[in-house]
Amino acid sequence: MLPWFQDRFPLYLAPMAGITDTTFRQLCKGYGADVMVSEFVSSEGIFRKNERTMEYLDFEESERPLGIQLFGGDPEHLAEAAKIVLDWKRPDFLDINFGCPVNKVVSKNGGSSILRDCPLLARIAGAIVKAVTPHPVTAKIRIGWSADTINATTTARILEDCGIQAVAVHGRTKEQGYSGEADWNVIAQVAEAVRIPVIGNGDIVTAHDVEHRKSTTRIAGIMIGRTAMQHPWVFREIRHYIDTGTHLAPPSLAEIWAHIRRHCAMEIARQKLQPRGLEAPGTAELHAMQSMRTQLMSYSRGMSGARQLREKFAHVASLAQLDDIAAENIAQHPSDSHLAAA
Ligand SMILES: Cc1cc2nc3c(=O)[nH]c(=O)nc-3n(C[C@H](O)[C@H](O)[C@H](O)COP(=O)(O)O)c2cc1C
Repeated sequence: MLPWFQDRFPLYLAPMAGITDTTFRQLCKGYGADVMVSEFVSSEGIFRKNERTMEYLDFEESERPLGIQLFGGDPEHLAEAAKIVLDWKRPDFLDINFGCPVNKVVSKNGGSSILRDCPLLARIAGAIVKAVTPHPVTAKIRIGWSADTINATTTARILEDCGIQAVAVHGRTKEQGYSGEADWNVIAQVAEAVRIPVIGNGDIVTAHDVEHRKSTTRIAGIMIGRTAMQHPWVFREIRHYIDTGTHLAPPSLAEIWAHIRRHCAMEIARQKLQPRGLEAPGTAELHAMQSMRTQLMSYSRGMSGARQLREKFAHVASLAQLDDIAAENIAQHPSDSHLAAA
């Protein structure tokens, strides 16, 4: 049994390409997320050792336990890539992506396309497990390719038989993308069907949602994606609710701004360390603030004055500008000391 399932019901931060980089993961860990998974990296990117891939593999010791997620369609390549990643980075586990619905990935026989090909699924899982044993390997699946071909109990059983040690189930089909609702009945069936821990994933917004899924299914942990993107402090609220049965007050507007500033400052500090010719004064800061814009848009959702904030975030280029935006927003909403965190 993976150690993080032994004494608690772990809260996983879902892997999200372009979002859950090392900076964001450190922040979530600070709020009480228990387990991290990297953004997905391709076996081919690892062979080429390209700069972006190396950045995706970056993590701090404080993020452990952390898994690096691989995707690809070739069992031998994935097995080789898994060995290389293990050798370079020593993550706590490797995770295989069988859920990505993006065409670029699916058309190369990766991600969720493998859900339609159980023999290939078994070959990939088997090859990676064999290559890195005794190091743990986990997997992330969707419930199937389409509404007519839901097969998550079958794929989860195959993965278990191949030596996969935990499986995260996103309760949507590939065809759904991110639309519709996650089907928690299927997640519940998977949790009944296998002995390995099942991590439920899809549409968790509040601490109450977690408690509800935890008490009505046999899942061993929960994984949170888009809610964490907007409210990374949701992990603190969930852990508090699980531990005490009471709700934590949501953060004040000033606390939210302090969080946003900290996130930007950490990202600037990280960019300054990147070997990418960002040495000229202000270059790393500009680069970091540009790369933060999508995340800033996520933070703005649910904040008072969101539309105005989005317009400003689209152009923000420095920490000083962010401070001005924050001061103005706080001044405009003095009574907004508490925002709904969900
Ligand atoms: C922007 C974005 C990027 C994602 N990237 C990945 C990824 O790299 N690997 C993966 O397994 N899932 C990825 N996902 C899926 C999430 O991990 C998760 O399964 C999905 O968002 C459903 O959970 P949620 O309802 O809590 O958001 C991504 C989702 C989003 C929104």
